[in-house]
Amino acid sequence: MRLAGRKALVTGAGGGIGRAAALAFAREGAQVACCDLQQDAAAATAQAVRAAGGTAVPVLADLTEEDSAREAVEAAERQLGGLDAIFNNAGLVHAEDKGVADTPLEAWQTTLAVNLTSVFLVCKAAVPALLRAGGGAVVNNASIVALVGSAFPQIAYTAAKGGVVSMTRELAVCHARQGLRFNAICPGPTGTPLVRTFLSDEAAWAKRRPYMPQGRIAEPEEIAAVALFLLSREASYVNGAVLPADGGITAAYVVDDCQPWQG
Ligand SMILES: NC(=O)c1ccc[n+]([C@@H]2O[C@H](COP(=O)([O-])OP(=O)(O)OC[C@H]3O[C@@H](n4cnc5c(N)ncnc54)[C@H](O)[C@@H]3O)[C@@H](O)[C@H]2O)c1
Repeated sequence: MRLAGRKALVTGAGGGIGRAAALAFAREGAQVACCDLQQDAAAATAQAVRAAGGTAVPVLADLTEEDSAREAVEAAERQLGGLDAIFNNAGLVHAEDKGVADTPLEAWQTTLAVNLTSVFLVCKAAVPALLRAGGGAVVNNASIVALVGSAFPQIAYTAAKGGVVSMTRELAVCHARQGLRFNAICPGPTGTPLVRTFLSDEAAWAKRRPYMPQGRIAEPEEIAAVALFLLSREASYVNGAVLPADGGITAAYVVDDCQPWQG
């Protein structure tokens, strides 16, 4: 098993990619702390892991608050008997996050707090725990908007995810000789409830499909699999990497009448 004996904290484990990651990590032998702002959702994921034969505990936290983030890391370390893998995945898209002229300050601040400050706070609390464990790995979930800008205006989310990528590189450099690795994933559109609703409409699909080489969105399990690899010992020399998991979207340079994969 690829995460045998590992002790992992997954944030935003109550749904979507985080839930898929908790299940995947446990299937590969990790004990998992399932952290979320929504208590019932965290508990449901932990229960699903246990029902599948794994080991998991729920952890309630608002990761935008320093005390709450520290207590979540401490609870995970205490309940699992150590901590050597972190998947920083909690995130949010704010309904009022739009172009720069139209985005209220509150939407900017909330978006940065959930998507960027939470990663800083979890890392701040987790680095000492990872060192106590004798080493470990962290994967931060960013987005393709950190690489290419958003297809529709979303200034705060784009800025936050860019910050996640930059912070990941600095952490990777600063802690490399302490036996810690930090990497980032940049997923493309992934089939969590929000995105499925948004893309349920054929007209919305028709606009986007030409720019998606694989012609489909990701399943949450496909992003979880990338996080699993980066946390595993198979990735022991991967550090500071920013890995798109986007079906080729950021590799594509296409226009309406030129989609090379269509022959
Ligand atoms: N779904 C996509 O298309 C997509 C694409 C690129 C990147 N991402 C990123 O992947 C991550 C997961 O996205 P998802 O689609 O699975 O989202 P989701 O909404 O299904 O899950 C996010 C989870 O984070 C939790 N959360 C929110 N605020 C929190 C807080 N303050 N403290 C603790 N937990 C909190 C939520 O309760 C929720 O369970 C996010 O960081 C998102 O930005 C998603």
